[in-house]
Amino acid sequence: MNNKFYKNYILQIVWALFFISAILLSLYLYLDNLTTVDCSTFLEISELSETNEHLVLVSGILTLAFFTYTLKTLVTAHSPSPVSHGNGMNKFETIEVSADIRNFTFSLTDSVKNLIGREYRNKLLVNHEHTDDLTSLYTHRYFHQIMKQKEYSYTGSLSVIILDIDKFKVVNDTYGYVVGDRILKNIGEILLNSMSESLKGFRYGGEEFVIVAENYTLDEAYLLAEDLRSQIIRSRVLQSQCDNFPITVSVGVAAYPEQTKSPEDLIDKADRAMYFAKQNGRNQTCIYNENIEKILIEKSEVFRKKEVLLDSALAFVAAVDAKDNYTGGHSEMVTKYSLLLAEKIGLSEEDKYLLRIGALLHDCGKIGIPDNIIGKKEKLTLEEYRIIKDHPLLGNNILKYIIEDESVMSCVRNHHEKWDGSGYPDALSGEEISLHARIVTLADAFHAMTSDRPYRRRLSFGTAITELRDNSGTQFDPSLVEGFIEAVYDFHGN
Ligand SMILES: [Fe+2]
Ligand SMILES: [Fe+2]
Repeated sequence: MNNKFYKNYILQIVWALFFISAILLSLYLYLDNLTTVDCSTFLEISELSETNEHLVLVSGILTLAFFTYTLKTLVTAHSPSPVSHGNGMNKFETIEVSADIRNFTFSLTDSVKNLIGREYRNKLLVNHEHTDDLTSLYTHRYFHQIMKQKEYSYTGSLSVIILDIDKFKVVNDTYGYVVGDRILKNIGEILLNSMSESLKGFRYGGEEFVIVAENYTLDEAYLLAEDLRSQIIRSRVLQSQCDNFPITVSVGVAAYPEQTKSPEDLIDKADRAMYFAKQNGRNQTCIYNENIEKILIEKSEVFRKKEVLLDSALAFVAAVDAKDNYTGGHSEMVTKYSLLLAEKIGLSEEDKYLLRIGALLHDCGKIGIPDNIIGKKEKLTLEEYRIIKDHPLLGNNILKYIIEDESVMSCVRNHHEKWDGSGYPDALSGEEISLHARIVTLADAFHAMTSDRPYRRRLSFGTAITELRDNSGTQFDPSLVEGFIEAVYDFHGN
């Protein structure tokens, strides 16, 4: 080995030491000072402002970049040439040492670069004291800080939008908290992606989100709220979290100065509007107005009772649908189709509410049918078929002491009756069968035909519709069949 080799070798070691020192220095500056926000022991500054924190970080990274670049240049200058010079062992040994150090250097710089990048991102998001861990939106506390500041200094228009996930308790109870958290995260992402300089998003409570919109008038805020609500409904990722259980939000909007004397009142007013949206069927946006208060008081007791009933029905349905092997929540889809027809024939809001409960619960008697019969893949024996046919009566027996409304009970007991009187369990015919039960019968048959069952493949929509027409007047109420078909086409498209 000649002098040139030793000189290069020692030079590379010296630069490597410089380099490692630079890394340690940068990491120390970055990890110690920036995480503790106190670098008095190192820089003799008692407290760093946020700007200084970033200056320290930038100078650390620049120092690191400078040494890295110098070392890379040095090492590259000694890298093996693609062309063999063939001038002796000494040259060969120099190349061997340089290549090792070069590889080591490159991998080390990559690791440090990745570490700093990750830490920096984490610091901006996770360690931000105002950021919610799950959704990355701002926190409830920060919302109040911001609104407090605006109380004294804000002069422009300001709107508050509050979004509350519908039936989130049912989601958590039925699908578990892991799924619940995923839903919160998905909605957080949708909101975050819509934020801008003048829009701030907050996780306000468990399943509540708030948007503060600066320089948004009431009308602009309403349009924004509707856009967010519709993004939530259209999100495939979000809607796939709970099979066919739809994830929706009820939204309230209030604006300053149109509706309040001070920004501080905005959240209360938006909250009342959101509650009104819930009372009126959920999955909608309501703007605050003074009449809301009066209506809310009048409706509150009735609403509370309805809520309890609907919650119980939904929880029951999830248990029934989990037991039966329909693809996608059967009861939810029967409810969906029933309400489409109800809309088409102009049923009242009260009737739609009762029909919804009846359709959700129509198969609740299946809870009492043995699993080996309900889930059987082969053809049922006559005895097994007889047992399955008991489910309307079983459902009736389960609910008769809980539900007073006859139309709901008829959906449960009579959804397998036929228009011509050949159905079961009571062999009712024509209008002896309640209107709600006749609607559910159509919806139930249509979803059953268009779903895969353990013992047969689904029918196409076209074939199922032909079946409905063929059985109009025998199995189904002839006055409802065409309306139902139109409603289904409207929903699914032609
Ligand atoms: Fe049934
Ligand atoms: Fe059914």
